[in-house]
Amino acid sequence: MLADQATTAVPNDWDRRGLPAWTYTSEEMFEVEKEELFRSRWQLACHVNDVAEPGRYLCFDIAGERAVIIRGRDMQVRAVHNVCRHRGSRVVAAERGQCKAAIVCPFHAWSYNLDGTLRGAARPETLPDLDPVEWGLKPVEMEIWRGFVFIRFKPSEQPSIREIMARFDEEIAPYETETLLPAGDAFWSEALEVNWKAVRDVDNEGYHVPMAHPALQQLYGQHYYDEPFVGGTSRSFATFNESHGKLWSVRHYRSVLPEATWLPESHRKAWLYAGIFPNAVIGLYPDSVMFYQEIPVAVNRTILRGAVYRRPEESRKLKLARYLSGRIDAITSEEDQQLTIWSCEASNSSAFDGIMLSDLEYGVRTYHDELRAVMPVMNEAQAPAEGTLARRNAELLASRGS
Ligand code: FES
Repeated sequence: MLADQATTAVPNDWDRRGLPAWTYTSEEMFEVEKEELFRSRWQLACHVNDVAEPGRYLCFDIAGERAVIIRGRDMQVRAVHNVCRHRGSRVVAAERGQCKAAIVCPFHAWSYNLDGTLRGAARPETLPDLDPVEWGLKPVEMEIWRGFVFIRFKPSEQPSIREIMARFDEEIAPYETETLLPAGDAFWSEALEVNWKAVRDVDNEGYHVPMAHPALQQLYGQHYYDEPFVGGTSRSFATFNESHGKLWSVRHYRSVLPEATWLPESHRKAWLYAGIFPNAVIGLYPDSVMFYQEIPVAVNRTILRGAVYRRPEESRKLKLARYLSGRIDAITSEEDQQLTIWSCEASNSSAFDGIMLSDLEYGVRTYHDELRAVMPVMNEAQAPAEGTLARRNAELLASRGS
């Protein structure tokens, strides 16, 4: 981030202390987050081409909810709950896979058509007549934006993903993300014993890049800047440094990367990141597009999940560049994971009395502002008395609306 850009963007009421430490360890806070953020907000599940053929499916679990994104025989992509209507088993067990003609529950073999309607129960003479639609797998709200599949488990007054992402429409169009294909086994995941917000806090600022990420610093450190979270999204952008860098992966990435003629000049030697509240980032590179996100599992356990996509026509040089950008990202992710662990461990130390944010960390602050807007209880210096947090949050929200 350039210092002058950061300074002009800092709000007047700049709070340097961040969220109170208790919000990272409170089980009750975590329950409210699951409801208000992860069930009620759009979740980036996959790309349409992860389920390219009829019967191809992908599972997405979060906050106790579980969905299957599956392509039907009519080539429509749908999202349904991965919950059998008989006794609630998962109807598909693998994270990704292929159903043939039907989805067959592994418990008692009730089967469902690829559009989710009930195809038939095992031993149907032992059951009443079941309407195929009424007893089909329950649909999950789904929206496809530029090839990416977003789902939302709980009805919400929040805008559509199309509205939320409108600021990126023009800028992202040249990347032709609708046509992208999974790059090999596109998905990766890793578990960290930390609160999910600690992962986001590290990712939401570039102040640490010069020290902690030598590869990124050599790639674009002089030109990186990010923009505050506004209306559910943030944007970060960096054009490459003039020098090709000394690190092997950066130097070779710069030298093999072919001219991305489908992009405007401004984006041919640049990385663009679109942050989506509360837990996802899409990275757009000249050689590939990727996303990553945090899936909270417990108050102190988070799964990091991501995937990489390639252009359908990919020259040897572009493929090599994608491999190298992936290496740079893998190094960066490993470095960030260590920083996240250290930040979390600090709360166990008698010396730790909270954080002090720099002007260059306004990405963290504005993200915290978005969290506080949804969950005003996060403004409280101490955790509410046991058993009262959800009620206190609801009271605060109600008083704000009155
Ligand atoms: Fe699915 Fe029984 S729980 S068939």
